[in-house]
Parts: sequence; C-alpha cells; structure tokens
Amino acid sequence: MSKKKTILDFYQMKKNGEKVSWVTAYDFPMASFAEQAGIDMILVGDSLGMVVLGYQGTIPVTMDDCISHCQAVRRGAPNTFVIGDMPFGSYQISDEDAVNNACGFLKEANVDAIKLEGGRRVISRIKAISDAGIVVFGHIGLTPQSSGQLGGFKAQGRTIDSARELIKDALAIEEAGARALLLEAVPPEVTEYISKKLSIPVYSIGAGAPCDGQLIICGDMLGLFQAFTPKFVKKYANVAEIITEAFKEYISDVKNVKFPEDKHVYHIKDSKEQFEALFKEFEQ
Ligand code: KIV
Repeated sequence: MSKKKTILDFYQMKKNGEKVSWVTAYDFPMASFAEQAGIDMILVGDSLGMVVLGYQGTIPVTMDDCISHCQAVRRGAPNTFVIGDMPFGSYQISDEDAVNNACGFLKEANVDAIKLEGGRRVISRIKAISDAGIVVFGHIGLTPQSSGQLGGFKAQGRTIDSARELIKDALAIEEAGARALLLEAVPPEVTEYISKKLSIPVYSIGAGAPCDGQLIICGDMLGLFQAFTPKFVKKYANVAEIITEAFKEYISDVKNVKFPEDKHVYHIKDSKEQFEALFKEFEQ
C-alpha cells in the first residue's frame, strides 16, 4: 500500500509536472475501490445530493449529510487524501460559522482538507479557515451552489470579461491562503494561464488538460448517475446497466424458483425422520 499523500506531495507533483487523479466518492465501498485503484485524492462532494440522495441539486445537502458521508469515505480510504465539500449554508453566514463548520469536518470525519465555492466574495472565509490551520481548496468557474445566479449549469470564462473575473478570483484565492484551486467548466486556454500563473496546484473538472490534475464525479464516469451527463464527462463504465440487468435476472430467478439453489442453503444436522417427528409434535 502506498503512503498517504499530503498537500506537500501535491505541490511537488505540480513542480514535477506529474498529474493528480482525483475522483468523488460518497460511501465506504466506492472509497475503498478508489483507494485500491491508487487514486491520488477523493472529494466527498456535495454532489452527493444528486448522485446519492436523489435531490435535484446540491442546495438541500446539510453539514450532517457531508460529515456522515466523509466518515464512511474515510473508513473506506484510510490512506487517501480526502477533501470534504462545504455544503450550501455552511459558510455563507459568517467567517466564524465557516471556521466552526470546517473544524467539524476535521474533528468528526478526519478529512485532510475542505473545499468551498466562490472567488472574491468568499475571500474572508478562505482566509479565516486557512488561518485556523485548515487546508482549503478553492473552486471557481461553474459553481453549482450558485448556478441560479449564473443562469444555470453554464461554462464560465469564455469571454474576455468573464475570463478577467476568473483570473482575478484565482489570484485572490491564492493570496487568501488556499492551498489548491479547482476550475470547473472553463476553457483550456484560461485554465492553462491560471495554472501557470499560480504557485498552488490548479485542478480541472471540465476545464481541460493543461493544469495539474483532473477531478471527475464517480457517478458520471461509472454510469451510475442517469439524470444528465455533462459534456466534459468521459464514461468509463455503465454500472447502472450492469446493476439493472443483475436485478432483472434475480427477479426472474425468484419467480421461477431458480434461486436459491442447493448450494445456497444450510442443511439439517439431525436425521430427516427426527425433523418429521418434530413437525408432527406441532400438529397434535
Ligand atoms: O460536489 C462536487 O462533486 C463538486 C464538483 C462538481 C466539483 O463540487
């Protein structure tokens, strides 16, 4: 088993030009599969609201949801760098509330870092949480929690004006003490510029290759999440199809008494005659 990485390893990987592989996970089995495969880091994203809990978006997800899923992921991936996502409402109110919630992630779920969405408008939160000694990942571009303000799940930084705002946000996030930055749904040209300009690692989800690593949502890449698939997703498997087929086969086996077979049952240890005598006792 390889040694658990720290944020310093990710700085070194940026220096060496070695890409980071990053995936979301929300539960014990998925986290253990990711760790066994050798993933560099895991995000317990508030996307769990859509991928696992069946909500339409991420807004209903609570701090308790995130902590409980982070705990399961930590049990499944004890040797992987895990990032807990700050859900909507957990850092909007005040710096104090944000620090309190970020501390909860570390105390209760033993995560290695937290991530929060937003640029200059959340700078004081990033600074306050970093000053508390917690590793903060920034997240700009398409920020799902504020997709209402963006007019939907829309790519960002495609025009000069929009790219200028993104670059200003990225610089402010680094300046405030964040230790890594995630760009979501941003053109590769802008990603490349930001990645070269910042000394902290810059990662992409839908922001192209020219940066320090890639994040993907496990439900998307495995074909588990069926509501929609963003343009930037590569599907590596269709697990939903495999699961549905397995359920269909099971239903058919049960209906046709093909399951359970002899090998699936526990046999009696005393004689058949003794058991028949026992059953008779209850018939008198
Ligand atoms: O919640 C999540 O999985 C995320 C990604 C969409 C970046 O924040």
